[in-house]
Amino acid sequence: MLRKIGIGVLVSGSGSNLQSIIDHIEGGKLDAEIRIVLSNNPEAYALERCTKHRIPTAVVDHCRFASREEFDRRVIEVLAASGVELVVMAGFMRVLSSEFFRAFPMKIMNIHPALLPSFPGIHVQQKAVEYGVKFSGCTVHFADEGVDTGPIIIQAVIPVDPDDTADTLAARILKEEHRIYPQAIQYYAEGRIEIEGRKVRVRDGRRMMESALHNPPLTRF
Ligand code: GRF
Repeated sequence: MLRKIGIGVLVSGSGSNLQSIIDHIEGGKLDAEIRIVLSNNPEAYALERCTKHRIPTAVVDHCRFASREEFDRRVIEVLAASGVELVVMAGFMRVLSSEFFRAFPMKIMNIHPALLPSFPGIHVQQKAVEYGVKFSGCTVHFADEGVDTGPIIIQAVIPVDPDDTADTLAARILKEEHRIYPQAIQYYAEGRIEIEGRKVRVRDGRRMMESALHNPPLTRF
């Protein structure tokens, strides 16, 4: 059996991605152990999910720190004291400073509800709908000092319908987030991820080379 990787999950809100990670661990599909869930928001519903599953939590309220660096230092301390090997940002709404990336180099993952590098930042489902893209999706990537810019591990592509609203699209994207995040963490736990500059290779992974998606679907061509 594989050794379980110790993860620390950073949250700010609902924590549905956290829930998916918990469910995949409890279902024996994800070889990880949640050492700590850390929230910057004392009111985050994600913390209640942890109580139900007896997962240790910490609240580091950013409002109580004079600077981003001081806040980050406290977060790093808590994660390190919990023996975290991989930091998993799951709906964590704070931008981290360079000290954080030095403390966990290429050991921080983030999930973003768009097909990066399109639509980084916030309100991205709304932006995708307004732009009229035919596909959007979600991306798990290693976090670096930019906003949503680090090397991409896995993406899911979701067709966008002209009648979609930000909410209908967000709901379909979220479903796929709940699948690709546990998968990315599992690749990492299995030691299969190799990073070459911006490129991430999953060793011994299946390849997707010969198919294309069309939206609307092709009729004759
Ligand atoms: C998700 O779309 C995630 O990608 C984004 O925040 C949303 C909420 O996530 N960063 P969760 O329900 O708190 O996991």
